[in-house]
Amino acid sequence: MRDLPKMELHLHLEGAAPPSFVRGLAAEKSIDISGIFDPAGAYAYRDFPEFLKVYEAACTVLQTPQDFYRLTRAVLEQSAAQGVIYSEAFLSPDFCGGRDVAAWREYLAAIEEAARDAEAAEGILLRGVVTCIRHFGPDAARETALCAAETASAFVTGFGMGGDESKGRQGDFAWAFDCAKEAGLRMTTHAGEWGGPESVREAVETLGVERIGHGVRAIEDRDLVEQLVERGTVLEVCPGSNIALGLYPSLSAHPVDRLRMAGAKVTISTDDPPFFHTSMSLEYQRLADTFGWEEADFADIAQTALDAAFCDAETRKKLEQRLKKSA
Ligand code: ADE
Ligand code: ZN
Repeated sequence: MRDLPKMELHLHLEGAAPPSFVRGLAAEKSIDISGIFDPAGAYAYRDFPEFLKVYEAACTVLQTPQDFYRLTRAVLEQSAAQGVIYSEAFLSPDFCGGRDVAAWREYLAAIEEAARDAEAAEGILLRGVVTCIRHFGPDAARETALCAAETASAFVTGFGMGGDESKGRQGDFAWAFDCAKEAGLRMTTHAGEWGGPESVREAVETLGVERIGHGVRAIEDRDLVEQLVERGTVLEVCPGSNIALGLYPSLSAHPVDRLRMAGAKVTISTDDPPFFHTSMSLEYQRLADTFGWEEADFADIAQTALDAAFCDAETRKKLEQRLKKSA
């Protein structure tokens, strides 16, 4: 599984920080965040609201562009070791200078430098999807969208929204998504994770996103699944995340296989791998064990992700060749 070339479209940069990395930065800066770890040193949370609190506490140790350089290198090294050849990371101006455009540019420059160095060292390619955080509200999202629009480039290629889906509605963030769209950014939003099918429908119809983060609860509405199939909306499915956060009791109860069978465009990602004790290889292995997915299924998943990647044509061509070479 490790050697299969993988494309990951749904990864939160800070959420991919190993606990040891966060502890190291905390020690350097004399910040006490010992309360967010369990006795074994893993991130400790009981449910999704607590997960968000622990996540945000971990982010308090990330204070400078240099911290983000180190984080990006660590994350890409970890991903490359899993056979990931292309990764799209959610980047959060909220945690990078508090949504100030000038500060954001400095953090972004450090992240991009790390991406260049990782490409040279490990061959992995990174693109950034600037992401607003839903429970911070629509006003903060506007500022985030402005950061995204100001820095749209071959590297910053998308705009998205994460955070607590139970707060507000997708449509409350229409201004931010319109702003990102005008800047030429491609769009995705978390929907159908903690919100039901109506959240997915609103994401597609009101925000006009072409991809959905998770989207798995679309399975609760047959017409919606049909609509997603017709539109070719791509789902960034993160099975291990959904199980760790208690959305489904097991992989066999998870709708990923049923969605794929229904003709939905399914891709596989880890979301926040150290939080969920997962990796891309583990996700693949569990899908093979539970649903009998074989090499051809994983090649199909990679092709779906390649087609849906928010990158330019030249990058897509390069990635296509790498996928072909190992087929
Ligand atoms: N931010 C990081 N991980 C997330 C998730 N699974 N859902 C919503 N927001 C997130
Ligand atoms: Zn996510």
